[in-house]
Amino acid sequence: MKTTRTQVAIVGAGPAGLMLSHLLHRSGIESVVLDIRTHEEIATTIRAGILEAGSVRLLVDSGVSDRVLTEGDRHDGVVLRFDGDNHRIDFQDLVGESVWLYPQTEVFIDLADRRKTDGGDVRYGIRGTAVDMSGARPVVTFEEADGGPARLEADLVVGADGSRSICRHAFPQGARTEWFREYPFAWFGFLTEAPQSHPELIYARSEHGFALISQRTPAMQRMYFQCSPAERPEDWDDDRIWAEMRRRVNGNGFELREGPISSKMVLPFRSFVTAPMRHDRILLAGDAAHTVPPTGAKGLNLALADVRVLHEVLTEYFAGGGERALDHYTPRVLDRVWKAQHFSYWATTMLHGIEGASDFDIERQRAELALVTGSRHGAAFFAEGYTGWSRR
Ligand code: DHB
Repeated sequence: MKTTRTQVAIVGAGPAGLMLSHLLHRSGIESVVLDIRTHEEIATTIRAGILEAGSVRLLVDSGVSDRVLTEGDRHDGVVLRFDGDNHRIDFQDLVGESVWLYPQTEVFIDLADRRKTDGGDVRYGIRGTAVDMSGARPVVTFEEADGGPARLEADLVVGADGSRSICRHAFPQGARTEWFREYPFAWFGFLTEAPQSHPELIYARSEHGFALISQRTPAMQRMYFQCSPAERPEDWDDDRIWAEMRRRVNGNGFELREGPISSKMVLPFRSFVTAPMRHDRILLAGDAAHTVPPTGAKGLNLALADVRVLHEVLTEYFAGGGERALDHYTPRVLDRVWKAQHFSYWATTMLHGIEGASDFDIERQRAELALVTGSRHGAAFFAEGYTGWSRR
């Protein structure tokens, strides 16, 4: 069996795993990144498209790429639409920040290219990953893409392996606590080859449920509408999708620009946190430790925020800081994790239709939207959360 020795074994080659590997490389720390998915699979799985300013700074300042600045689109605000009217939240005016529309798939491509250029060891398409913490050093065993058995021996293991993390399950029984919340709805997401319907994102609440208008390129748009988690993409043809979107957002002078639809998918909604995010020599980052519902696009941003701190913690560890350095990880990241949990939950419940809602619930929800859009303080609270609490 082929054995590789490294300092940090990183399970998961999504943006969190690759960004950590990149930052560690810049600090002279070796890592090997493993993923059961192929490069192609990761690069073509459509995910969210909004980066907080802090995420953009991390990509640019750490030398990953400045493509986000040249090809991404800066958005200085978003629209909350309800009762047929658009209400713009002006991020620049309220909190002096912006977000960038730059799809997660592009973030992955930038990171994967940078790791390749820098000679990083990233192994895609592996199988049968198992983490063994019983020896003097952690060992990750797996099958290489070509089928050969392999062993990775490391000082530390980082689980950046998503919501179904195998690294999280390598924590012994009782070593962590979980907080969990389910929602009775999902999002139906799709791409459409059509011009932009609006220059900024529109988050719309209607009596028929939530809808989100987002973008990708001048000729390709991304949209979502609230649906049942049991919905199947193949049951929805283009006509049915546009009819549903129209009744949720058209009206009062606003009209969707329509086109052929592709990449239909149903996205589940969940809120999940586990802590502590480190046990012994395993540390978790991103979705492996926390999942947010998609409203507000916090998932990737939160993962990158974890990694920024994790890089500092690991640098301290390898400089001789020992266990005490690792102890700092969870307390340093958990505050932001719960803020993002709150924001994603709050934006979700404020904008979605809840089956069985009483007249009271509906009027209260309307009042909440009126408070957020009708007062500078309310709008600033939303803007601060959406852009990532960079001014604290
Ligand atoms: C997108 C996804 C989100 O969940 C969101 O809140 C905003 C934008 C997107 O895919 O573009």
